[in-house]
Amino acid sequence: MSSALFRTKNVEQSIQDTEEPEHSLKKSLSALDLTVFGVGVIIGTGIFVLTGQVAKNNAGPAVSLAFVAAGVVCGLAALCYAEFASTVPVAGSAYTFSYASLGELPAWIIGWDLVLEFALGTAVVAVGWSGYIRSLLDNAGWHLPDYLAGRDNATGFGFDILAAALVLVLTGILVLGMKLSARITSLVVAIKVVVVLIVIAAGAFFIHGDHYKPFIPPSQPVPAGGNLKAPLIQLMFGWAPSNFGVMGIFTAASVVFFAFIGFDIVATAAEETRNPQRDMPRGILGSLFICTVLYVAVSIVVTGMEKYSKLSVEAPLADAFKAIGHPWYAGVISFGAAVGLTTVCMILLLGQTRVFFAMSRDGLLPRFFSRVHPRFKTPHRPTVLLGVIIAIVAGFTSLSELAELVNIGTLFAFVVVAISVIILRRTRPDLPRAFRTPWVPVIPVLSVCASLWLMLNLPAETWLRFAIWMVIGFFVYFLYGRTHSRLALRDKAAQQTAGDTP
Ligand code: ALA
Repeated sequence: MSSALFRTKNVEQSIQDTEEPEHSLKKSLSALDLTVFGVGVIIGTGIFVLTGQVAKNNAGPAVSLAFVAAGVVCGLAALCYAEFASTVPVAGSAYTFSYASLGELPAWIIGWDLVLEFALGTAVVAVGWSGYIRSLLDNAGWHLPDYLAGRDNATGFGFDILAAALVLVLTGILVLGMKLSARITSLVVAIKVVVVLIVIAAGAFFIHGDHYKPFIPPSQPVPAGGNLKAPLIQLMFGWAPSNFGVMGIFTAASVVFFAFIGFDIVATAAEETRNPQRDMPRGILGSLFICTVLYVAVSIVVTGMEKYSKLSVEAPLADAFKAIGHPWYAGVISFGAAVGLTTVCMILLLGQTRVFFAMSRDGLLPRFFSRVHPRFKTPHRPTVLLGVIIAIVAGFTSLSELAELVNIGTLFAFVVVAISVIILRRTRPDLPRAFRTPWVPVIPVLSVCASLWLMLNLPAETWLRFAIWMVIGFFVYFLYGRTHSRLALRDKAAQQTAGDTP
């Protein structure tokens, strides 16, 4: 039994599966496409919305340090991801990597976890996007009725019609094909990066040194009650829950971590990359580096423009310009944010369907979902199914708690990938690795510790929700995946043949 749970799919077999014509994706992406792809998904709700929230509630001007901390955690994970993605160039990211190294059950766990990350991430960004669109519509004098503006804005029934519509339109685009999506992505990414640069360049002229004092505001106790909302680490050590101070920077880092999610998704497109061995590490590390520099610059500028305690929590970048009497800049930034969030949403949705596709190709989910479209060569069935489910979730949910749930799932995936790098170096030292993580096992071990540290800084209730999702995953695996997986069927056939031989 335990050997079945830890049966591994060998790397050559993973690559061979992708070459079956009925189940193979088109190889069309270059290193530049991947970097654009990465920046396209990384810059989003995190910098456009969460910066203001955490500066105001957790870290003050030191939010820029929170971005550095979260960037370091992601950099360590990226070094591990890059080795894996360039060794196992197959759709499915951390899921595939762990199937090749840790075994079927750990792979299932990670796949299930990634479904949570991408699906809820898509919903979170769609809701953020709809907020910006509504703000632009309001400027133009058009107001949506409250019951169509999402749960937060309605007293009774509330459905976020814009968020749901966005997810459905993007689903259609993804079904039509990868190349089309990559082209749209490039244009939108350009607009988004220009808007971020405008914030940095124009905002720099309005910085007041006084706003940085104190740079790390002194620690403040949080009112009693609501223990489940306190970071797990504070409860574990019996500390009184507090905001700001040095610990506040880590709480902030565990939230703004959301702003970096996406570089791992570049790895999910490995199978669609022309030269994954060379281009995958470049795409992942390049996009992560560009975004870290931009985030730190934006957060320094915005907290210098306006006192952290006065920052807006809905559209902090645009509102900082409104506050200093430049509404025109604010309009441009809102427009860029709305456009930018569109690509984030699309790429999260893409990552999500590719993981689902890979799991179904392995038989852990019904194989029906892994037939690609005869003409478009895209996995249209999981794309449509998940698109509709996510549209409904996006319509009915609100933002903040979901973002924390997405973070814990992603950090957990980082832990598994880092461990897998070490294991695969030992079990398959012979495999060609175009990119090798430096200082193994030091870097992977540091990556595990750093990711766990951020996870511990998330609220206890987030841990609880995550545990419930994973328990459901165990049920699905033991009731379906364990007996239907391709490896299980192969093992069974081999046993029968052995039994038939006299
Ligand atoms: N990193 C992406 C964002 O900030 C998910 O929206």
